[in-house]
Amino acid sequence: MYLSRFLSIHALWVTVSSVMQPYPLVWGHYDVCKTQIYTEEGKVWDYMACQPESTDMTKYLKVKLDPPDITCGDPPETFCAMGNPYMCNNECDASTPELAHPPELMFDFEGRHPSTFWQSATWKEYPKPLQVNITLSWSKTIELTDNIVITFESGRPDQMILEKSLDYGRTWQPYQYYATDCLDAFHMDPKSVKDLSQHTVLEIICTEEYSTGYSTNSKIIHFEIKDRFAFFAGPRLRNMASLYGQLDTTKKLRDFFTVTDLRIRLLRPAVGEIFVDELHLARYFYAISDIKVRGRCKCNLHATVCVYDNSKLTCECEHNTTGPDCGKCKKNYQGRPWSPGSYLPIPKGTANTCIPSISSIGTPPKFNRIWPNISSLEVSNPKQVAPKLALSTVSSVQVANHKRANVCDNELLHCQNGGTCHNNVRCLCPAAYTGILCEKLRCEEAGSCGPDSGQGPPAHSKPALLLLSALLGAANPLVF
Ligand SMILES: *[C@@H]1O[C@H](CO)[C@@H](O)[C@H](O)[C@H]1NC(C)=O
Ligand SMILES: *[C@@H]1O[C@H](CO)[C@@H](O)[C@H](O)[C@H]1NC(C)=O
Ligand SMILES: *[C@@H]1O[C@H](CO)[C@@H](O)[C@H](O)[C@H]1NC(C)=O
Repeated sequence: MYLSRFLSIHALWVTVSSVMQPYPLVWGHYDVCKTQIYTEEGKVWDYMACQPESTDMTKYLKVKLDPPDITCGDPPETFCAMGNPYMCNNECDASTPELAHPPELMFDFEGRHPSTFWQSATWKEYPKPLQVNITLSWSKTIELTDNIVITFESGRPDQMILEKSLDYGRTWQPYQYYATDCLDAFHMDPKSVKDLSQHTVLEIICTEEYSTGYSTNSKIIHFEIKDRFAFFAGPRLRNMASLYGQLDTTKKLRDFFTVTDLRIRLLRPAVGEIFVDELHLARYFYAISDIKVRGRCKCNLHATVCVYDNSKLTCECEHNTTGPDCGKCKKNYQGRPWSPGSYLPIPKGTANTCIPSISSIGTPPKFNRIWPNISSLEVSNPKQVAPKLALSTVSSVQVANHKRANVCDNELLHCQNGGTCHNNVRCLCPAAYTGILCEKLRCEEAGSCGPDSGQGPPAHSKPALLLLSALLGAANPLVF
């Protein structure tokens, strides 16, 4: 009886998830903020962590060039062909649409041939440096979810810096340096992302991987987001739970992938030879055909929808939060301090909703931060751990998204504070710690830290882990 129910659930799961397959870039199942469930008290809302889908962020940015008059064509000028630097009769003319190369062409639809591109003026003022800043602004915090990819139509620059801002362009930090010779250009040893590890993932490196001039075919520069995720989630990003766990507990890591603005600083065009050919300066310029930035609005796990209205991105906050990033509690919902949602426990996370202010309800409800209310889920047999979840109470979206996700992995860690990974589904924590990754002091969970700490774990945690492993064990692998 239990087996047949299990099989039918599983069959449905397979059907639904095969329908839902075309989602290679979505890195989560946090796509509903709440769902209705049945408890002994009847139908109630169950709140979950939620986030907007990852999408093409270039549709929502503003671009600014410095110096402002650096785009070619005003006045018209000739430049040399990319393929043949001695054929110098190509024309850029801003007043003729077919010969103009305005900045918008970095973000238009590519895939046609020949491609459209932005182009700078040529290096006619050599030896004065030819430098351009391309600033991309969202006026909103966004979380990057895939590599930043810049496709050059000219040779790739000899020197370039990618910078980021987290405060709407007030301050800037380097993100990555690019040069044909890192030591010469930036006094840095050349490195590639593959030389990094989990412990050095936040290091800012200079790479020579993308900076050869005209000679090679490749025209692409990457800022490698996925390779950095892979230090936590494994080579094919199968173990996203591990990444989520780490993002949840390490603010610095979360911030590393978060930006409000990006700046591409082009410092020296591709020369391709040791010396600059002063007789043919029209050979040297920058041209970019495409910039890809994928990400999502940062809504602190309190919204699945981010709207673009009036040239502005805003989270549609749930859980009674408000603000552009859902960064505070609504008025009259300040019964406890605001906190972001949590990815844990996988796969639903914790909503950390804002609750009505104390004055309006008397005493604040006792709140269980991480663990779901297990008694409302009726585990049928604690050993076999097949949750008796009535399917009708769970939306198909949610069912499809309960895919397999390992919680931990002894190679890639993630049990913290000396915890060890058990069967990839739970961390065995030292006595003083608890939480899915042993990330929390046990006394904190019990709200009794201080001189008399050392309380037992919350009664819920054991069945919750068993339930979790049942959900994970029955599901399909997370496909990327
Ligand atoms: C580009 O921006 C940097 C700061 O990020 C600034 O120091 C530099 O002068 C700017 N360059 C140009 C050409 O505007
Ligand atoms: C938020 O407040 C509204 C009433 O304004 C209420 O109906 C709703 O259930 C609340 N949501 C949460 C997540 O507490
Ligand atoms: C869990 O759910 C049961 C039944 O709905 C309820 O009586 C109990 O108070 C809930 N516990 C918590 C901590 O919310």
